[in-house]
Amino acid sequence: MCGIVGIVGNHDSRNYLLNGLKSLEYRGYDSAGIAIMENQEIKNYRVVGRVHLLDSEIPSLINTSLGIGHTRWATHGAPSKRNCHPHKSNDGLFTIVHNGVIENFQEIKNSLREKGYEFYSDTDTEVIANVLEDEYKKTNSVLDAINNALKIIHGSLAIAIIFKNDSENLYFAKRKSPLLIGVGDKTNYLASDALPMIKTCVKFIDILDNQYGIIGEHDIKIYQDGVKQKAKYTTRNAELLNIDLGGYPHYMLKEIEEIPSCISRLIDNYFINGKYCFNEEMIEKLKTAKCVSFIACGTSYHASLIGKHYMESIGKMSNVYIASEWAYFPKFIDEDEIFILVSQSGETADVITCLKKINEFKTHPTITITNTKGSTLERDATYSALLYAGVEIAVASTKAYNAQVSLLYLLKSAIIDDYNASKKLLDNNILLNNIIERKDEIKEIANKVKDAHNAFFLGRGLDYFVAMEGSLKLKEISYIHSEAFPGGELKHGPIALIEENTPVFGFISNKDIALAIRGNFSEVKARKAIVYSFVTKENAISTDTFVMDDFDPDLSILGSVMTSQYLSYYVALLRGNDIDKPRNLAKSVTVE
Ligand code: AGP
Ligand code: GLU
Repeated sequence: MCGIVGIVGNHDSRNYLLNGLKSLEYRGYDSAGIAIMENQEIKNYRVVGRVHLLDSEIPSLINTSLGIGHTRWATHGAPSKRNCHPHKSNDGLFTIVHNGVIENFQEIKNSLREKGYEFYSDTDTEVIANVLEDEYKKTNSVLDAINNALKIIHGSLAIAIIFKNDSENLYFAKRKSPLLIGVGDKTNYLASDALPMIKTCVKFIDILDNQYGIIGEHDIKIYQDGVKQKAKYTTRNAELLNIDLGGYPHYMLKEIEEIPSCISRLIDNYFINGKYCFNEEMIEKLKTAKCVSFIACGTSYHASLIGKHYMESIGKMSNVYIASEWAYFPKFIDEDEIFILVSQSGETADVITCLKKINEFKTHPTITITNTKGSTLERDATYSALLYAGVEIAVASTKAYNAQVSLLYLLKSAIIDDYNASKKLLDNNILLNNIIERKDEIKEIANKVKDAHNAFFLGRGLDYFVAMEGSLKLKEISYIHSEAFPGGELKHGPIALIEENTPVFGFISNKDIALAIRGNFSEVKARKAIVYSFVTKENAISTDTFVMDDFDPDLSILGSVMTSQYLSYYVALLRGNDIDKPRNLAKSVTVE
């Protein structure tokens, strides 16, 4: 949550700060701000709302080589002008932007107040600026002030700092929240992820937890606890970070339609010349593991549920945990248990907490499945496997889910030395492409349900997991209240909520449960709900709403989920919602 940028050097700062923030807007978008150093003076521009509003606030010609910017997802204090970043310290020595949450901010605020400091916002961030000022006054050194501040402040932070008496350097610190340095030509950059810098940088430096430092036009120095650290350079694949809308009206639509190519790319990366090319040691560990436990949140949790089914289908014991629950109630089931952390962003704080806990024990290997190279989860796990899905910008995750499920399918096939998986996935792409061609039919369904207040998603077995994901997608972007249930569970309570004309979306991809779920459709129809059924051909009857090609149910669920992604997209579109940036949400949930 929150995107931060920083620049020092020759490059057009206005352009970098504004466009950089626009490319990070998916991380948070309730307010935005920029601070620049111009003629030895710090100028602060802040707006409530989207980044583009800053454009008219900032003069078109600015003379600066030093600036920082922020797009906010509020955690402390409403999205209002007083709470917008950048925040400055009382005497204006420090101006900062921050991503994260300061756990002991109230305590620090009280003690700073006793020393005479005043506060002009409700944020935890303003406390950091004043701790820096307080420590600077004691040490007369910005770097020592940052080092001391890191000890005083508990919680997560990625901060970019301008110091009033230094117009040539940018300062930074990081703990838990993501922060990356981009090395450019006579200009160096900072950002929450590589997107703002990908056009100008080929070399990056991942900043590690508790590191801080100073960035000049030509020079970068990184420290930890007063000791200079060696910078570790890394690269990023520009092709996978392409954020061009490519003629689509929304990223979500573009990303749904990229699914078949994402699956092909996965195969190109992991199945070459008839052989799997996963990390061999990782596959060995999976082969010998008795239990495979998944930890994830949201959509990635739903993909993990399918992963659990895959693992059980090859005789492994398997569990799926919601990260924010496991973090407080950790369970280790077996000595030979391996943990798979699934996270599109690789930066989800709840999942990171779990990984840290597992790593503390040093007893269980971990695998991160992520779309984000260089992310915390990728770096800190024993093994990782990238999704290669290309950057996902729409807050509602679509292609990453399908890539996660496909990668898990490849993994389970690699464990049992089944070499048909890639062919099956590619054949299944034909089914997905057919759905893409028929999207207008789903738009018509969307038109019928767009005014609903409540909706239900039903399925059994794997189709229940599809229903869970479909329901999450609908509520995220259409704001229609929606719940998913296993078909058989309805009569145990939820059926009380069914009213005349309530839309009920049902999925059938497996003939073993077809009769049973049809019984559940009848139960809700008898109570005047309207059932929209998405079924595969072999299970279809004449009254079904959308009939898909037949395929192995282990994979045809990729098509069922795609229909629900389209459904949510079109409902949100017809309701006039902001599809790519739904209210209250942010793409990368870096707070617990
Ligand atoms: C997806 O549509 C959601 N925005 C959300 O549930 C997301 O899947 C969840 O926050 C987990 O994110 P991650 O995959 O980046 O860890
Ligand atoms: N805690 C800060 C604020 O509320 C930053 C929020 C975040 O990083 O999500 O402004």
